[in-house]
Amino acid sequence: MNEIKPLRSLEGRFYTDPAIYERECQTTLAKTWQYAGHVSQLKKAGDYFTFSIAGEDLFCIRTKESEINCFYNVCQHRAHQLLKGEGNSSVVVCPYHAWTYELDGRMRAGPNTKSTPGFDKSQICLTSVKLEDFNGFLFANLDPEAKPMDEWFPGARQELTSFVPQIDELEILEWVEIPEKCNWKVSVENYSECYHCSLCHPTFATGVVKPETYDIQPQGYCLRHTTECQSMERMTYPIDLESNEHAGEYSSWFLWPTFSFQVYPGNVLNTYLWRPLDHENVVAWRGWHTVRGEESQVIRDLAVQDRETTVEEDIHLVESVQRGLKSRGYVPGPLVLDPNSGVKSEHSIKALQQWMREGIEDN
Ligand code: FES
Ligand SMILES: [Fe+2]
Repeated sequence: MNEIKPLRSLEGRFYTDPAIYERECQTTLAKTWQYAGHVSQLKKAGDYFTFSIAGEDLFCIRTKESEINCFYNVCQHRAHQLLKGEGNSSVVVCPYHAWTYELDGRMRAGPNTKSTPGFDKSQICLTSVKLEDFNGFLFANLDPEAKPMDEWFPGARQELTSFVPQIDELEILEWVEIPEKCNWKVSVENYSECYHCSLCHPTFATGVVKPETYDIQPQGYCLRHTTECQSMERMTYPIDLESNEHAGEYSSWFLWPTFSFQVYPGNVLNTYLWRPLDHENVVAWRGWHTVRGEESQVIRDLAVQDRETTVEEDIHLVESVQRGLKSRGYVPGPLVLDPNSGVKSEHSIKALQQWMREGIEDN
């Protein structure tokens, strides 16, 4: 008998075992492109911000030559942290023994170091991290051998520019923090299927997009979401359909593993960022952007609507799933894989779970 066995979802331990999360910090999260911050946070020489990836403290800083560098946030003397939060500094000064570094990472000076025989400051430099500017959004990769983002996410950069022609002028207007008590992969999976949309997101499904047209397809390591927007009389905010050829579309580009660009109808760019904290905690950040960060009541209202509806609805879903994944009674169920894809299919989860598995196995 030719019996086809459906593909089952990943076992609970992938999401609940601290050892798997530790492994991901050495593999999946250390060898992929992760969001650092936005160029508009670094306008002048010496502007910096700190962030972390895979448990590593890092910072980005703009040099006098207007380059943006990314470094591990650790002093090359005896390992104290260099910078906190964000700010501006003409040199990087370590708070422990006051060694200083130029904005390009070279050591500048240290108290009494000249009296040490053989001390050669030209040999000392902060450890740099690979960084890419993706339409003004900065992404870091801890893997010095990492392939460029255009190879990971083919076409995404150009498509984003055609959906949001003003993308290079954008700045952050709203940055909304959403702590979730779940493994980062639970939240990313939830984001990456719309099988639950009609049931769980009535506002999104009736006031923003047409769920019956929703589809998600892999494009390299990008999951591309496409759908039509709701009919104009049902839209929850005003849009100008004439403003751009894609003004009536919704599209998103999820960049494996922890970031997504979304363009709402009307060329409204907003972003999702997941910062994993440990095996059962993640912070999701929702970013809303306008040209030069200009005030916009429409965007402010949209951010509030999103926080109060889709985001709030998702928090309860993902936290319930995390509790369920710990249950002795949970047996991973078959994924719903419709050969024709579409909104009621989990083919995007199949792709994601394959990347999740490969990420920790192949490295
Ligand atoms: S650890 Fe930074 S100056 Fe000593
Ligand atoms: Fe959702």
